[in-house]
Amino acid sequence: MIKNICCIGAGYVGGPTMAVIAYKCPEIQVTVVDKNISRINAWNTKNFSNLPIYEPGLDEIVKRCRGKNLHFSEDLEENIKKADMIFISVNTPTKKYGIGAGKASDLKYVESCARQVANYATGHTIVIEKSTLPVRTAEAIKAILESSRNHIRQKGDSITFDVLSNPEFLAEGSAINDLINPERVLIGGEDEESINKLCNIYSRWVSKDKILKTNIWSSELAKLTANAFLAQRISSINSIGAICEATGADIREVAKAIGSDSRIGSKFLDAGPGFGGSCFKKDILNLVYLAEYFGLPEVAAFWNSVVSVNNWHQHRISRIITRKLFGSLSNKKIVILGFAFKANTNDTRESAAINISKDLLNERAFLHIHDPKVDPNQIAIELDMPQNDKDDSKVLSEEGCWYFVNDIYEAAKEADAILVTTEWELYSSLDWRKISKVMRKPSWVFDSRSILNSKEVKASGLNFWRIGDGYE
Ligand code: UDX
Ligand code: ADP
Repeated sequence: MIKNICCIGAGYVGGPTMAVIAYKCPEIQVTVVDKNISRINAWNTKNFSNLPIYEPGLDEIVKRCRGKNLHFSEDLEENIKKADMIFISVNTPTKKYGIGAGKASDLKYVESCARQVANYATGHTIVIEKSTLPVRTAEAIKAILESSRNHIRQKGDSITFDVLSNPEFLAEGSAINDLINPERVLIGGEDEESINKLCNIYSRWVSKDKILKTNIWSSELAKLTANAFLAQRISSINSIGAICEATGADIREVAKAIGSDSRIGSKFLDAGPGFGGSCFKKDILNLVYLAEYFGLPEVAAFWNSVVSVNNWHQHRISRIITRKLFGSLSNKKIVILGFAFKANTNDTRESAAINISKDLLNERAFLHIHDPKVDPNQIAIELDMPQNDKDDSKVLSEEGCWYFVNDIYEAAKEADAILVTTEWELYSSLDWRKISKVMRKPSWVFDSRSILNSKEVKASGLNFWRIGDGYE
């Protein structure tokens, strides 16, 4: 029986996943540890609306379980010691140096976790890879754990480990629902007893037919492949969107027509500003690296094109905006609606808004950026540029600059263009007549998410461009 779970990494995956396990298994003590003390403090905040991650429904679950069987702690040693099961849920960014730079996953955080587990674990411990990892990482984790076991054995202790792969398929913004009602749970491993122990935890709320058991390498590869396939659909639909704009077709109609073929399916066919988020680009690059490593250059080129089309597509949008505004954005005011990589999250990692904003800033635009959940400090980090300290659109700037705004109607005053980058619901119910009255003419609205009512926007006297719409 599993009594104590420890999860290393209190991030977007570890935090919500452990909250749901604690919620569904009240007899198990679940502790999430992280070396980042301020993150742990934020998880322990008194005000549940200030948790470090915004995820619908998460605050309610944390409120119910925290202090009872869900704990957030910086004490790795103590919590690793008492755990029967340890989830490794740390970040695996793309490597920036040395062999595999720009493609391979940097496993330094995973390795350091394995060493910490090796140092502190007692008795038998099941170690679970929750982070998305390259195929055969479990081998490296095992090697580190085994070496410590040999060392400790000499002292006469009996310390044993089993390594399982249990990748997470949750999507941000719907994480709690994805965790409570998963389409499948994947468990890869060799030791049947350990697999069954993990299976027994999930089967508290997931039906057994949805729990898939595979060998460990298939499980690691399935996670990378799932993300690669999803990202591929987005690059595919965005590439066809560009053809729509050139030919007079409409990407929404094309997507509907192809999506009603059950072999293709209708999900993940929304043309947009290009995929963002912490996983897609990183996981595909990882796959590209693996293919190159195993001597499969054609496979590598195939998957690499998914990322390069995504990059091209984001820059294509900023080029369209520049062209429509007469080829120069110098001192023009552009309102950016949304900085998160998608709606219902405060996560900005790899958001399309970053590349597009940077391009517009390069053209010396004055950006007024709005997002209901993203912290302006985070925007400054992503743009690598501090916020302009004056809300004065008349300030003549030699370089582009940006300002964070809370009031969209105020921001629209004297603006030349408005660009929707994130599909937040509030943007679909704006009063375009009111906005049109205060913008500088000729004014443009660019909808890269297809969430605005085009008739309404056009009827307000605004020029309108929509992604993949060749009618315009
Ligand atoms: C993704 C996977 O969906 C999830 O299974 C995995 O565990 C982690 O990576 P996430 O990054 O949270 O989840 O976001 P997702 O909803 O998949 O969206 C990724 C990006 O694609 C976003 O920028 C989104 O706006 C974009 N997208 C998605 C589209 O442009 N069109 C679509 O039809 C769907
Ligand atoms: P993800 O989206 O995969 O959850 P995040 O970056 O949101 O990734 O979270 C990963 C967390 O893991 C971070 O809070 C980081 O501080 C933590 N972390 C990384 N390495 C270690 C480690 N060796 N020990 C403890 N925590 C770690």
